[in-house]
This record gives sequence, C-alpha cells and structure tokens, in this order.
Amino acid sequence: MVGLVNNMKNKIVDLIAAHVDGLSKEDIAALIEIPPKPELGDFAFPCFRLAKTMRKAPQMIAADIKEAIGDVDFLEEIQVQGAYINFFINKQIFVKSMLNEAFADNFGSSTVGNGQTICIDYSSPNVAKNFHVGHLRTTIIGNSLYKIYSKLGYDVVRINHLGDWGTQFGKLIVAYKNWGSEEAVKKDGIAELMRLYVKFHDEANNNPKLNDEARAWFAKMEKGDEEALSIWQWFKDISLIEYKRTYDLLGVDFDFYLGESFYRDKTDNVVKMLTDANLLTESEGAKIVDLEKYGMAPCLILKNDGSTIYATRDLAAIFYRKATHNFVKCLYVTGQEQKLHFAQVFKVVELCGNEWAKDQLVHIPYGLVSLEGAKLSTRSGNIIYAEDILLEAIDKIKTIIEEKNPDLPDKDETAKKIGVGAVLFNDLYNQRIKDVSFKWEKLLNFDGETGPYVQYTHARCSSILRKIDCTPSSEVDYSLISDEESMALLKEISRFPKVIADAADKYEPSIVARFAVDVAQSFNKFYNANRINVEDEAVKNARLSLVYITKKTIKDAMALLGIECPEQM
Ligand code: ARG
Repeated sequence: MVGLVNNMKNKIVDLIAAHVDGLSKEDIAALIEIPPKPELGDFAFPCFRLAKTMRKAPQMIAADIKEAIGDVDFLEEIQVQGAYINFFINKQIFVKSMLNEAFADNFGSSTVGNGQTICIDYSSPNVAKNFHVGHLRTTIIGNSLYKIYSKLGYDVVRINHLGDWGTQFGKLIVAYKNWGSEEAVKKDGIAELMRLYVKFHDEANNNPKLNDEARAWFAKMEKGDEEALSIWQWFKDISLIEYKRTYDLLGVDFDFYLGESFYRDKTDNVVKMLTDANLLTESEGAKIVDLEKYGMAPCLILKNDGSTIYATRDLAAIFYRKATHNFVKCLYVTGQEQKLHFAQVFKVVELCGNEWAKDQLVHIPYGLVSLEGAKLSTRSGNIIYAEDILLEAIDKIKTIIEEKNPDLPDKDETAKKIGVGAVLFNDLYNQRIKDVSFKWEKLLNFDGETGPYVQYTHARCSSILRKIDCTPSSEVDYSLISDEESMALLKEISRFPKVIADAADKYEPSIVARFAVDVAQSFNKFYNANRINVEDEAVKNARLSLVYITKKTIKDAMALLGIECPEQM
C-alpha cells in the first residue's frame, strides 16, 4: 500500500506492535481507525480486543501503551480517551511530507500491478443495433476501470466484444434483400438496419418461411459464403462508423475490436475440450453442460441444429484471452441481466480443470438507466441514442456559457468537456449497481455534487494560479499551514492513493468520483476561510501550494473517470 498516510499508519503499527502481545501487525493495522473528528487525533487504536489476552481493563492497557511508547519525533501527542489511544501527527511533518508527496508527478500511482495484465471486456454493442443508454454505462464504467488499473501499474487490455454473429444477421440479410436498398442503408445507417429488422419480424409473423430463409443465410455465413459475408461485413462497417462517433465524443478507445465472429473458428475446440472433460450431455437434441449441482440452469453449448450460441463464443473468448494475454483478471462490464450467463460460463471454465476461473473471471454488473422525468430527444421510433444524449448535454452547456461567459476562449471545446463530463460524472457518482437517473437540471448543475461543480472548482484553482504570477512549490514555510480548513483539505487530498486502491479492489469508480467532490468541497471551505493573494510572500506561497495540489489532484482524479478539466469555464 502506498501513500504518506499509510506510511504514518505503518509507523504507528510498529510502535504499538512493540508493546502488545497476541496481535500481529496485520491485526493492529486492521484495528486502527481514522477518527471522525480532528479533536480525536489522526489515528486511533481501540484496546478492547487486548483486554482478554492481556487480562487488564482496556483503559489501563491504553495508558500503559502510551507510557511505553513515550516521545516520538513524528507525533505531536498521544492521548488516552477511554479505551482508545489517539495519535496526533506532528502537523509540520505531516504538511511537509504531504506537500512533497502531492507535488510529485506520480502522486496516487503505484507499481502493484507491474508485470500483470488485466483484460476488460466492455461496451460491446450489438452490430446493426443502436448504441443505447445501457451501452453508455458499460462504456463509461469500463473506461474508468481501465484508467484506474493503469494508474496502479497494470497492463490493461481493452476489448470490445462486439455482438456481430448470430442468427439475427440471417434475418437482416433476408430483410435487406426483400425490402431494403443500398441507398437507404447508406443514407440512414443503423436506423435503416433497425427498421429492416423490425420489418422482418412483422412479416415473419404471417410468413414463417422467412425464418427458414434467415437460418439458411446464417448457415451460409457460417460456411464462409462470400455474398453473405460481404453483406454482413458491410452492416458491421456501417455500425462501427456510428459507434466510433460516440467513442470519440466520450474519448474512449479500445486495444481490440474482437467481436463474437472472431471466435467462430474457435468454438470447435471448446466443444472438444468439454467432450474430453466429459461435461457435455445431450438434451432434446442440444448439447449442454449440466450445472444443477451448482444451483444453476444448464449452460447451452450447441443448439439442436449444431450451431453455437453466445455462451459458446464467450467460452472460446476466455481461453483465447488466457492464452494470448495471460491475464491475472478478466473483467466483464455488462448489465445485471447477464449475471446468470457469466456465472454459468465461468463455472464451465472451472469445471474444465481451471481453478483460476474462480477469482480471475469477474462479472461487473451495473444498474439500469432510468429516464423517468428526463426530456431526451429521440430519433424516429422513440429510440434513444447515447450520441444524442451527449450532443444534447454539450448543447445545453453551450447555452449556459453563451449566457454567463460569452467571452470564454475555446467555447466549443470547453462545452464538450463540461457536457460530456457531466454525463460521465452522473453515471459514476453512485455505486455502479444503483440505477442512474437522468435529470438535466440535476446533472448539469454547477452547484451540486456534479461533474460541472468539480470542474468549476478546478477552473477556480487554475484562475488563482494564473492571476498570481509565481511558481508553486512544495518548499514553503510549513508552520504557516495549520488552520482547520487547510489541514482538512490536506487530509482530504492525502486519501488519494488509498481511494484509487479501494476503487480498484471493489471495481467501483464511484469511490473516486466521491473523492473528487470531497476535495472540491474542502477546497471551497479553505478558499472561503483563507485569502490567497496576501502581502506576506511566505503566507501567499504556502496557500498557493495548497491551491496547486488541489488543482492537480482534482484533475488526476477526474482523469480516472475519463473526464477532462478545462482551465477556464
Ligand atoms: N453484446 C452484449 C450485449 O450488448 C454484451 C457483450 C458482453 N461481453 C461478453 N463477452 N459477453 O448485451
């Protein structure tokens, strides 16, 4: 574990460990608390658990430990309050070390992940369908996890597992041939493909023969028929152009676009492996893996016509990724409705004799997007495109800027950073499993717990630093930083390394988003209490150093969410 706070904590663990019996250093570290109020010190150690082994009242134990520790250079004071020992870090040492740590380029970074690879499978929309709000969530969460793990030194492989294979493409080809045209698809792209798909289902209701035709076209695709594949490839190219527009707006990228189709020649191997492991059983002509023992429905591997399904291709993908990247973790960011699917697939991998499946394959579900109360523009057929949401957010911010700050340079670029940032922040601020609601007034509010609020605080820091002409430095008179608000701000910032580590452990970008708001709020309290541009150079420099690390930390925290912070707004 990294960071100054942790160093201090470790030092305190060592001090306590030298004077108690029956508790390991790990036990002690786990017991140490960060007190809720500054009057109770910076760290507190409760002595209740020692009462048994040391056969004394916890209050007495606390007093004895304090006595035994005596005077220590980095501690201002040790107090006993009831069964607690409260440690007060020497303020000047804390300020000095904290400033040095936060000024460093790599503040918050770590090397724990060095030499280890994590695959993240996210976004993964279904070709020929629109990129909707649900896919927006996986894209935003996956991208943030990528940034968080990279910060911790992992090699992260970003994979877009496009839904680009399956019988639906047979249907689409039939629909295109019967009711479509090249011009219409060229002109309307995905919207036209979706229209054709709906049309197919309407027509097939009265004419079931169409389903046979569709199956036949998909069978042709599976056999490598040139015509079938070229139409399919064209639909895919058209879809990707539209998806990439959304990715560009979001600033999201991938190392690999390897959709389901990539695994079509790799599923035979999966079937062979499952057969060799004696896992396949026959059920109504289909091949399945029975998972009853594990309280799950069977995992379907081959349909009764011998074709593979989503799960078969996911199995192939896991073995391919393990062989290619030798990941220590492979994460899947999708909605909760796929919980069973992943539980089944992971179990099947494990049953093939791969113990690693138990902790290396992780499904990361998230809640729904509720559009209740939101006025979002829709394209024909009331369909909401993620792209439109982002464009609308940018547009609304542009209007606000025109009203409030018409002379701002780079208005378009800034509106994009704030508008897109607001949508991302709204998505990441609550635990990912919670539903996300979409209310423009709320998420674009410059005063709430929002992206624009955090960005605005960052821009305020930038403006202070711009106006006062001097180079911020960590070499200041540390004794000049001691008021309550300054200390609270420093303490808040000092949490950054731990925040990143926790967010990674729990796959929870919201921990970073909340931290960004906490720092912004602490800064605004500090700023209300302290004038920065004062006569006294030493005081000015000391305060500027806090402004500087606030700006830097907010910018870095927001970057972990995929959000850029403009210098001015
Ligand atoms: N295409 C799927 C969907 O839109 C998501 C794919 C997730 N990744 C995976 N390896 N199954 O629901």
